[in-house]
Amino acid sequence: MATFSCSPTLLLFPAFIPLILLCLSPMYQKNLFIFFPSFSITFTYQNSNHSTKQLLAELSFNISPSPSPSTPSYNAVSCIRKKGRSERVEADLASARAAIREAIRTRNYTSYKEEKFIPRGCMYRNEYAFHQSHIEMVERFKIWTYKEGERPLVHTGPMKHIYAIEGQFIEEIEGGKSPFKAQHPDEAHVFFLPVSVAYIVNYIYLPITTYSRDRLVRIFTDYIKVVAKKYPYWSRTKGADHFMVSCHDWAPEVAGQDPELYKNLIRVLCNANSSEGFHPKRDVALPELNLPPRGFSPRRFAQPPDKRTILAFFAGGAHGNIRKILLHHWKDKDNEVQVHEYLSKGQDYSKLMGRSKFCLCPSGFEVASPRVVESFYAGCVPVIISDNYVLPFSDVLDWSKFSVQIPVEKIPQIKTILQSIPGNKYLEMQRRVLKLRRHFELNRPAKPFDIIHMVLHSIWLRRLNLRLQD
Ligand SMILES: *[C@@H]1O[C@H](CO)[C@@H](O)[C@H](O)[C@H]1NC(C)=O
Ligand SMILES: *[C@@H]1O[C@H](CO)[C@@H](O)[C@H](O)[C@H]1NC(C)=O
Ligand SMILES: *[C@@H]1O[C@H](CO)[C@@H](O)[C@H](O)[C@H]1NC(C)=O
Repeated sequence: MATFSCSPTLLLFPAFIPLILLCLSPMYQKNLFIFFPSFSITFTYQNSNHSTKQLLAELSFNISPSPSPSTPSYNAVSCIRKKGRSERVEADLASARAAIREAIRTRNYTSYKEEKFIPRGCMYRNEYAFHQSHIEMVERFKIWTYKEGERPLVHTGPMKHIYAIEGQFIEEIEGGKSPFKAQHPDEAHVFFLPVSVAYIVNYIYLPITTYSRDRLVRIFTDYIKVVAKKYPYWSRTKGADHFMVSCHDWAPEVAGQDPELYKNLIRVLCNANSSEGFHPKRDVALPELNLPPRGFSPRRFAQPPDKRTILAFFAGGAHGNIRKILLHHWKDKDNEVQVHEYLSKGQDYSKLMGRSKFCLCPSGFEVASPRVVESFYAGCVPVIISDNYVLPFSDVLDWSKFSVQIPVEKIPQIKTILQSIPGNKYLEMQRRVLKLRRHFELNRPAKPFDIIHMVLHSIWLRRLNLRLQD
């Protein structure tokens, strides 16, 4: 059995890829950073008409010496001005990297204003790096949203129910109030393709007469081609500083027919299945959030630990294989492991979660489950039952410290596995779940460290690790 203390732990989940980013400083050549696996890619433009630029993607923070400034000449004025802007963006990122390294070194932070929340605890892979990185993001991060395209397929998305995070994110960034919105593309660190896969399915496919993804793929790919033709930004990096956001199950398939075009695009997806092309270093796992039709502050019935009389709880349909196995073994069979396909009249889903020690979060038709976020709201320790699911924010959060991962083949042993977790370990995990709750809360407008900021931080981190050179 794994331990759940702050000492190094055994990961319970085999599918999980420990994300450790090693940050190498040019001066010290020491490992400074813990976020992702260290790697760096260098690739050159083959057929770009924007001269012979080189793109250096530095997922290891390998800072190479800046290119020596070219001698200005009269003819090159407009060129230099352009270059000046992108150099400013790069210089900005360089300052952010330096501040993060300093925070790691001093084990403290430097802030531009008073810090209301200071993330601390072993649930964070590197609390100092994360804190400083978040501070730098709030201070600097600018996103350009392409204006092309018309509602409802672009610039908006579902605001309620299971895909809500997609519409909420798009509208937050588009809404005009976001401090992250760039006023001009030249000041942007990243470029957002505000196309809603969920709304394409909604408006183009429903009622479903075909499951062929052709039309979805065509609409999305056409959008990229339009903005790539109109502006220099896409081809400058072949999409490496561009991102899309979608919670729909079909979203990963958008890239299926033209993998070359989508090779670098940062895809922010709920369906973060690492066996279906989701790359944790490039892509971002988006938490699934089931928003009720009215209001989005979730009902909370979190009971204190001693009032949690149910060992484990699940209620939901037999969607997908994993849930079928779960229901087969546990449906309505055990008082302590309460697994239901339907709740009977008078039973309240949120209240039951609030009275449970552990909340089972099995994958459904795709890997993500809204129960993960609901567990945080209910103060219930999530039990992840999935294969190949890359958990949200796992570049910052160490899920082994506040969740349990049970492999699908161990579903029959759920009860013995959970019972074998010592009481004090359980209490530690539960306390951490409550502490981390803010990272899964939705606010509009978004607030520091909430779910939207955490998603933005995942994107910011990928951009921090990318260095563009003219
Ligand atoms: C580069 O320019 C040529 C001629 O203007 C054009 O035919 C070609 O498609 C361009 N290539 C790219 C990648 O934009
Ligand atoms: C950490 O930094 C903050 C703000 O810069 C400062 O107020 C605080 O005293 C520092 N703490 C330590 C332990 O150095
Ligand atoms: C994840 O992808 C694999 C490979 O395609 C697939 O077999 C599996 O069913 C997917 N997981 C879920 C929960 O859909």
